[in-house]
Amino acid sequence: MAAPVIEVENVFRIYETAAGFTPALRDVSLTVDRGEFLAIMGPSGSGKSTLMNILGCLDSPTTGTYRLEGLEVSSLSDDDLAVIRATRLGFVFQSFNLLPRTTVLRNVMLPLIYSDVPVTEREPRAFRALRSVDLPEELYEHSSNELSGGQMQRVAIARALVNDPSLILADEPTGNLDSATGEMVMRTFRRMQRQGKTIVLITHGAEVAAWADRVVYIRDGRLMSAEEERAFETRLAEREATLQREAIA
Ligand SMILES: Nc1ncnc2c1ncn2[C@@H]1O[C@H](COP(=O)(O)OP(=O)(O)O)[C@@H](O)[C@H]1O
Ligand SMILES: [Mg+2]
Repeated sequence: MAAPVIEVENVFRIYETAAGFTPALRDVSLTVDRGEFLAIMGPSGSGKSTLMNILGCLDSPTTGTYRLEGLEVSSLSDDDLAVIRATRLGFVFQSFNLLPRTTVLRNVMLPLIYSDVPVTEREPRAFRALRSVDLPEELYEHSSNELSGGQMQRVAIARALVNDPSLILADEPTGNLDSATGEMVMRTFRRMQRQGKTIVLITHGAEVAAWADRVVYIRDGRLMSAEEERAFETRLAEREATLQREAIA
Protein backbone atom coordinates (compact mmCIF):
# COMPACT_ATOMS: atom_id res chain seq x y z
CA MET A 1 0.00 0.00 0.00
CA ALA A 2 1.30 3.43 -0.94
CA ALA A 3 1.64 5.94 1.90
CA PRO A 4 -1.16 8.51 2.22
CA VAL A 5 -0.37 11.76 0.42
CA ILE A 6 -0.78 13.72 3.67
CA GLU A 7 -0.11 12.50 7.22
CA VAL A 8 -0.25 15.22 9.86
CA GLU A 9 0.22 14.09 13.45
CA ASN A 10 -0.35 16.17 16.58
CA VAL A 11 0.76 19.40 14.98
CA PHE A 12 0.94 22.62 16.94
CA ARG A 13 1.93 25.91 15.29
CA ILE A 14 2.53 28.69 17.77
CA TYR A 15 3.35 32.17 16.50
CA GLU A 16 5.60 34.21 18.73
CA THR A 17 4.95 37.94 18.52
CA ALA A 18 5.61 41.01 20.66
CA ALA A 19 2.09 40.55 22.05
CA GLY A 20 2.86 36.99 23.19
CA PHE A 21 2.17 33.51 21.86
CA THR A 22 -0.64 32.76 19.40
CA PRO A 23 -1.42 29.05 19.09
CA ALA A 24 -2.75 29.02 15.48
CA LEU A 25 -2.90 25.19 15.29
CA ARG A 26 -3.58 22.99 18.32
CA ASP A 27 -3.00 19.27 18.13
CA VAL A 28 -4.04 18.89 14.50
CA SER A 29 -4.00 15.38 13.01
CA LEU A 30 -5.13 14.70 9.46
CA THR A 31 -4.67 11.94 6.88
CA VAL A 32 -5.51 12.41 3.20
CA ASP A 33 -5.31 9.48 0.79
CA ARG A 34 -4.34 9.59 -2.86
CA GLY A 35 -7.21 10.70 -5.08
CA GLU A 36 -9.20 12.26 -2.23
CA PHE A 37 -10.83 15.66 -2.55
CA LEU A 38 -10.92 17.25 0.90
CA ALA A 39 -12.38 20.61 1.88
CA ILE A 40 -11.29 22.38 5.06
CA MET A 41 -13.88 24.84 6.32
CA GLY A 42 -13.54 27.41 9.04
CA PRO A 43 -14.20 31.05 9.90
CA SER A 44 -11.65 33.82 9.42
CA GLY A 45 -8.71 33.54 11.84
CA SER A 46 -9.34 29.84 12.59
CA GLY A 47 -5.94 28.69 11.26
CA LYS A 48 -6.75 27.68 7.66
CA SER A 49 -3.88 29.53 6.01
CA THR A 50 -1.47 28.41 8.73
CA LEU A 51 -2.40 24.78 8.02
CA MET A 52 -2.15 25.34 4.27
CA ASN A 53 1.35 26.83 4.63
CA ILE A 54 2.45 23.73 6.50
CA LEU A 55 0.85 21.35 3.97
CA GLY A 56 2.54 23.37 1.21
CA CYS A 57 5.99 23.09 2.85
CA LEU A 58 6.18 26.88 3.21
CA ASP A 59 6.21 26.71 7.01
CA SER A 60 6.85 23.98 9.57
CA PRO A 61 5.08 22.88 12.74
CA THR A 62 6.28 24.10 16.14
CA THR A 63 5.78 20.51 17.33
CA GLY A 64 4.30 17.42 15.71
CA THR A 65 5.04 15.79 12.36
CA TYR A 66 4.06 16.17 8.73
CA ARG A 67 4.76 13.45 6.18
CA LEU A 68 4.14 14.18 2.50
CA GLU A 69 3.97 10.93 0.49
CA GLY A 70 5.81 9.25 3.34
CA LEU A 71 8.59 11.88 3.45
CA GLU A 72 9.19 13.49 6.83
CA VAL A 73 9.09 17.15 5.82
CA SER A 74 10.88 18.58 8.89
CA SER A 75 13.98 16.52 8.06
CA LEU A 76 14.44 18.23 4.68
CA SER A 77 16.74 21.13 3.81
CA ASP A 78 15.42 24.39 2.30
CA ASP A 79 16.76 23.29 -1.11
CA ASP A 80 14.97 19.95 -0.86
CA LEU A 81 11.77 21.76 0.13
CA ALA A 82 12.02 24.07 -2.87
CA VAL A 83 12.31 21.00 -5.13
CA ILE A 84 9.34 19.35 -3.42
CA ARG A 85 7.21 22.46 -3.83
CA ALA A 86 8.15 22.74 -7.51
CA THR A 87 7.62 19.09 -8.41
CA ARG A 88 5.03 17.55 -6.07
CA LEU A 89 2.75 20.46 -5.21
CA GLY A 90 0.45 22.72 -7.19
CA PHE A 91 -0.88 25.91 -5.61
CA VAL A 92 -4.08 27.78 -6.46
CA PHE A 93 -4.81 31.10 -4.74
CA GLN A 94 -7.83 33.33 -4.24
CA SER A 95 -6.15 36.15 -6.19
CA PHE A 96 -4.98 33.89 -9.09
CA ASN A 97 -1.38 35.25 -8.88
CA LEU A 98 -0.79 35.27 -12.64
CA LEU A 99 1.74 37.54 -14.35
CA PRO A 100 -0.67 40.11 -15.86
CA ARG A 101 1.21 41.17 -19.02
CA THR A 102 2.48 37.69 -19.81
CA THR A 103 0.59 35.36 -22.14
CA VAL A 104 -1.59 32.56 -20.83
CA LEU A 105 0.75 29.96 -22.33
CA ARG A 106 3.87 31.53 -20.73
CA ASN A 107 2.13 31.77 -17.35
CA VAL A 108 1.42 28.04 -17.46
CA MET A 109 4.97 27.23 -18.62
CA LEU A 110 6.54 29.20 -15.77
CA PRO A 111 6.76 26.40 -13.16
CA LEU A 112 8.56 24.21 -15.71
CA ILE A 113 11.56 26.54 -15.62
CA TYR A 114 12.34 25.16 -12.15
CA SER A 115 11.86 21.53 -13.16
CA ASP A 116 13.99 19.20 -15.25
CA VAL A 117 11.41 19.01 -18.04
CA PRO A 118 13.33 19.44 -21.34
CA VAL A 119 12.76 22.79 -23.11
CA THR A 120 11.12 21.11 -26.12
CA GLU A 121 8.61 19.40 -23.80
CA ARG A 122 7.53 22.59 -22.01
CA GLU A 123 5.13 24.03 -24.57
CA PRO A 124 3.35 20.70 -25.28
CA ARG A 125 2.96 20.19 -21.53
CA ALA A 126 1.44 23.65 -21.07
CA PHE A 127 -0.95 22.96 -23.97
CA ARG A 128 -2.07 19.70 -22.34
CA ALA A 129 -2.65 21.41 -18.99
CA LEU A 130 -4.67 24.22 -20.61
CA ARG A 131 -6.77 21.75 -22.59
CA SER A 132 -7.49 19.79 -19.42
CA VAL A 133 -9.05 22.89 -17.80
CA ASP A 134 -11.12 23.53 -20.93
CA LEU A 135 -9.76 26.96 -21.78
CA PRO A 136 -10.49 27.95 -25.42
CA GLU A 137 -7.31 27.73 -27.49
CA GLU A 138 -7.74 31.22 -29.00
CA LEU A 139 -6.95 32.63 -25.52
CA TYR A 140 -3.53 30.95 -25.14
CA GLU A 141 -1.60 33.87 -26.71
CA HIS A 142 -3.59 36.59 -24.89
CA SER A 143 -2.11 38.39 -21.90
CA SER A 144 -3.62 36.98 -18.73
CA ASN A 145 -5.03 40.42 -17.76
CA GLU A 146 -7.33 40.25 -20.82
CA LEU A 147 -9.21 37.28 -19.35
CA SER A 148 -12.28 37.08 -17.11
CA GLY A 149 -11.88 36.02 -13.46
CA GLY A 150 -13.12 32.49 -14.15
CA GLN A 151 -10.75 32.12 -17.11
CA MET A 152 -7.85 33.44 -15.00
CA GLN A 153 -8.53 30.90 -12.29
CA ARG A 154 -8.60 28.09 -14.85
CA VAL A 155 -5.22 29.29 -16.16
CA ALA A 156 -3.98 29.21 -12.54
CA ILE A 157 -5.25 25.63 -12.19
CA ALA A 158 -3.47 24.68 -15.43
CA ARG A 159 -0.29 26.24 -14.02
CA ALA A 160 -0.74 24.21 -10.83
CA LEU A 161 -1.12 21.03 -12.92
CA VAL A 162 1.69 21.49 -15.41
CA ASN A 163 4.32 19.70 -13.31
CA ASP A 164 1.95 16.79 -12.75
CA PRO A 165 1.98 17.28 -8.94
CA SER A 166 0.76 14.70 -6.42
CA LEU A 167 -1.16 17.28 -4.43
CA ILE A 168 -3.10 20.41 -5.35
CA LEU A 169 -3.58 22.97 -2.57
CA ALA A 170 -6.19 25.66 -3.10
CA ASP A 171 -6.77 28.49 -0.62
CA GLU A 172 -10.21 30.10 -1.17
CA PRO A 173 -9.99 29.59 -4.97
CA THR A 174 -13.53 30.90 -5.57
CA GLY A 175 -13.28 33.78 -3.07
CA ASN A 176 -13.02 36.43 -5.82
CA LEU A 177 -15.57 34.86 -8.21
CA ASP A 178 -19.34 35.13 -8.57
CA SER A 179 -21.21 31.91 -7.79
CA ALA A 180 -21.76 30.77 -11.41
CA THR A 181 -18.06 31.26 -12.23
CA GLY A 182 -17.09 29.68 -8.93
CA GLU A 183 -19.14 26.64 -9.88
CA MET A 184 -17.27 26.32 -13.16
CA VAL A 185 -13.97 26.41 -11.26
CA MET A 186 -15.22 23.74 -8.83
CA ARG A 187 -16.17 21.53 -11.79
CA THR A 188 -12.59 21.88 -12.98
CA PHE A 189 -11.30 20.64 -9.60
CA ARG A 190 -13.71 17.67 -9.78
CA ARG A 191 -12.36 16.81 -13.20
CA MET A 192 -8.79 16.95 -11.86
CA GLN A 193 -9.81 14.57 -9.11
CA ARG A 194 -11.27 12.11 -11.62
CA GLN A 195 -7.88 12.20 -13.31
CA GLY A 196 -6.37 10.93 -10.05
CA LYS A 197 -5.25 14.15 -8.37
CA THR A 198 -5.40 14.67 -4.61
CA ILE A 199 -6.97 18.01 -3.76
CA VAL A 200 -7.12 19.96 -0.51
CA LEU A 201 -9.25 23.07 -0.74
CA ILE A 202 -9.85 25.72 1.88
CA THR A 203 -13.07 27.68 1.98
CA HIS A 204 -15.51 29.33 4.31
CA GLY A 205 -18.45 28.60 2.02
CA ALA A 206 -20.57 25.49 2.58
CA GLU A 207 -21.72 25.47 -1.07
CA VAL A 208 -18.07 25.29 -2.17
CA ALA A 209 -17.20 22.59 0.39
CA ALA A 210 -20.13 20.51 -0.90
CA TRP A 211 -18.09 19.73 -4.04
CA ALA A 212 -15.55 17.77 -1.97
CA ASP A 213 -15.85 14.09 -0.90
CA ARG A 214 -15.03 14.93 2.69
CA VAL A 215 -15.19 18.08 4.78
CA VAL A 216 -13.30 18.78 7.99
CA TYR A 217 -13.83 21.87 10.10
CA ILE A 218 -11.35 24.06 11.89
CA ARG A 219 -12.13 26.35 14.81
CA ASP A 220 -9.60 28.21 16.96
CA GLY A 221 -6.84 26.03 15.53
CA ARG A 222 -8.56 22.71 16.28
CA LEU A 223 -9.71 20.29 13.60
CA MET A 224 -13.20 18.80 13.94
CA SER A 225 -15.28 16.25 12.10
CA ALA A 226 -18.71 17.18 10.73
CA GLU A 227 -20.37 15.65 13.86
CA GLU A 228 -18.14 17.61 16.24
CA GLU A 229 -18.80 20.79 14.28
CA ARG A 230 -22.58 20.22 14.51
CA ALA A 231 -22.33 19.60 18.27
CA PHE A 232 -20.30 22.80 18.57
CA GLU A 233 -22.93 24.78 16.62
CA THR A 234 -25.70 23.29 18.78
CA ARG A 235 -23.91 24.33 21.99
CA LEU A 236 -23.43 27.86 20.60
CA ALA A 237 -27.14 28.10 19.71
CA GLU A 238 -28.18 26.80 23.16
CA ARG A 239 -25.92 29.31 24.85
CA GLU A 240 -27.37 32.12 22.78
CA ALA A 241 -30.94 31.01 23.60
CA THR A 242 -30.09 30.92 27.34
CA LEU A 243 -28.58 34.39 27.18
CA GLN A 244 -31.70 35.68 25.41
CA ARG A 245 -34.01 34.13 28.03
CA GLU A 246 -31.94 35.69 30.82
CA ALA A 247 -32.07 39.07 29.07
CA ILE A 248 -35.90 38.89 28.88
CA ALA A 249 -36.39 37.61 32.46
N1 LIG B 1 2.64 35.41 10.92
C1 LIG B 1 1.83 35.45 11.99
N2 LIG B 1 2.25 35.95 13.17
C2 LIG B 1 1.44 35.98 14.25
N3 LIG B 1 0.18 35.53 14.25
C3 LIG B 1 -0.31 35.02 13.11
C4 LIG B 1 0.48 34.95 11.91
N4 LIG B 1 -0.27 34.40 10.93
C5 LIG B 1 -1.48 34.12 11.48
N5 LIG B 1 -1.50 34.49 12.79
C6 LIG B 1 -2.63 34.31 13.72
O1 LIG B 1 -2.95 32.93 13.75
C7 LIG B 1 -4.36 32.73 13.74
C8 LIG B 1 -4.78 31.93 12.49
O2 LIG B 1 -4.53 32.73 11.32
P1 LIG B 1 -4.76 32.17 9.85
O3 LIG B 1 -4.10 30.86 9.71
O4 LIG B 1 -4.33 33.24 8.89
O5 LIG B 1 -6.35 32.01 9.79
P2 LIG B 1 -7.38 31.91 8.54
O6 LIG B 1 -6.59 31.64 7.30
O7 LIG B 1 -8.31 30.82 8.92
O8 LIG B 1 -8.08 33.23 8.47
C9 LIG B 1 -4.98 34.10 13.82
O9 LIG B 1 -5.21 34.39 15.18
C10 LIG B 1 -3.90 35.01 13.27
O10 LIG B 1 -4.01 36.31 13.80
MG1 LIG C 1 -6.58 32.65 5.40
